[in-house]
Amino acid sequence: MEKQQLNQAYWNERWENRQMGWDIGYASTPIVEFMDGYENKDAAILIPGCGNAYEANYLLDQGFTNITLIDIAPKLVEDVRKRLEGKANIKVLLGDFFDHEGSYDLILEQTFFCAIDPTLRPAYISKSASLLNENGLLAGVLFNIHFQRPGPPFGGHEEEYHSAFEKSFELQIMEPCRNSIPERKGSELFIKLKKKDVQN
Ligand SMILES: C[S@@+](CC[C@H](N)C(=O)[O-])C[C@H]1O[C@@H](n2cnc3c(N)ncnc32)[C@H](O)[C@@H]1O
Repeated sequence: MEKQQLNQAYWNERWENRQMGWDIGYASTPIVEFMDGYENKDAAILIPGCGNAYEANYLLDQGFTNITLIDIAPKLVEDVRKRLEGKANIKVLLGDFFDHEGSYDLILEQTFFCAIDPTLRPAYISKSASLLNENGLLAGVLFNIHFQRPGPPFGGHEEEYHSAFEKSFELQIMEPCRNSIPERKGSELFIKLKKKDVQN
């Protein structure tokens, strides 16, 4: 079988055909609980590959003031922009995460890492680090399971993430997620990774 090109057309088509098995329909519990303990409401926050970004609505309701969403699928971005119309404190960008420029205190990860081709994982890690300010955090969930079917989603395991992320991040937390949504129980890691001062 020919390798699937995970490009803009692919993701836009999935959105238009409502093939969105990843969409849980609400803000994910691990991210909600993490953000409940995150004090700086004015932190610059990026959610890459945001999809419906239910987490963004949660953050707005909690008083966060500087949220940026980015997604590559034009139809999705159009729909999310409509949903968030008139809301200050949030930007919805249409674009490729790997081309994005900016500086953030926090990047939230939720089924974006597993959506990209695994060959792009080193680029994801270095791009995330380059988008973060000093002491910036990458936090959220990663799958800790190998899927039987061809991806996306592409799975992985803690050991491989460990060696890949530790080049650019201090692994403050990388452990089995205790508050996953029921459908993902036992198959996720929670991560809280602090950008290293000096990138290896
Ligand atoms: C599996 S979905 C996850 C959506 C959302 N994070 C969620 O959990 O519901 C992956 C998302 O990443 C977007 N995406 C894929 N490649 C991208 C890229 N290079 N830059 C930005 N967004 C991308 C897709 O359009 C899609 O919305």
